Amino acid sequence: MSKNDSSKKGVNPSSKTVTPAAVKGTNSGAEGKDSGERQLIFSREDKKVYREGDMLIKQFAPNYSKADILNEALNHARVEETDLNIPRIRSIEVVDGKWAIILDYIDGVTLQSLMEEHPEKTDEYLDFYVDLQMQVLQHKVPMLNKMKDKFNAKISAADLDATTRYELHTRLDSMPKHNNLCHGDFDPSNIIITADGTPYIIDWSHATQGNASADVARSYIMWYVNGKEELAEKYLKLYCKKSDTALQYVQRWIPIVAASRLVKAKPSELELLHRWANVVDYE
Ligand SMILES: Nc1ncnc2c1ncn2[C@@H]1O[C@H](COP(=O)(O)OP(=O)(O)OP(=O)(O)O)[C@@H](O)[C@H]1O
Ligand SMILES: [Mg+2]
Repeated sequence: MSKNDSSKKGVNPSSKTVTPAAVKGTNSGAEGKDSGERQLIFSREDKKVYREGDMLIKQFAPNYSKADILNEALNHARVEETDLNIPRIRSIEVVDGKWAIILDYIDGVTLQSLMEEHPEKTDEYLDFYVDLQMQVLQHKVPMLNKMKDKFNAKISAADLDATTRYELHTRLDSMPKHNNLCHGDFDPSNIIITADGTPYIIDWSHATQGNASADVARSYIMWYVNGKEELAEKYLKLYCKKSDTALQYVQRWIPIVAASRLVKAKPSELELLHRWANVVDYE
């Protein structure tokens, strides 16, 4: 049987820094912006992210579920107890009438920006990304929600016919039960790299404990639906090679992970996700 647990191989779990040459010296971060002034650095319909000196304010819109905000903070606090580099939560407050999580501000550049700015270094960044993901997946955070519970709930809620849902629940049930730390949204925009090459991982709202290969299937789908099909294939091959995981094993997760993504999918992703989720073995 193939291994999917990367704990037997890969990077040193106690190592806090990963410093590929590709990252060193490329930081174009927020130099000179460390005055106490509040500065908007990221905005979406349902959240705004500000920097205020060495503090990061992630502020949620009034209609955002309070339970989801507190769950994000709880997940984050739980992962903070590992030796992974993640910003520290300072407090959870109501800022200007809106719930906000206050964190350490990480002065650096996201891996997404680096990849956009330096397409010639794509292979090096991909290598870096895979090593970092393997490092995360080696950790155990026993208090986190179970991935299987989350997937079962999402499959039940997905816009799929009963036969497909049944098949997906059955497939999920048959998959090996692991308890690795899975980020759940291991996107390059959630990796911030400081000037000395130290990566920090943010945005732990989707973290669960479960099977590493499911998190890898999620990353594959993420690259793919973002239009980076070639990179998705390259990523999958690289991860499987580095972790000595069978490609087929990750592929068995794709319909399950695609179905679970259907619930909050962007309209542009729907066709592809439905195609993956509908791969049902009729016997
Ligand atoms: N602690 C931090 N230090 C520095 N920058 C941060 C920090 N936290 C978030 N950011 C910046 O804000 C962006 C958005 O933050 P975050 O990833 O937490 O939100 P989000 O939940 O991904 O939003 P969405 O899911 O809508 O994309 C990040 O990509 C990063 O650029
Ligand atoms: Mg994010």
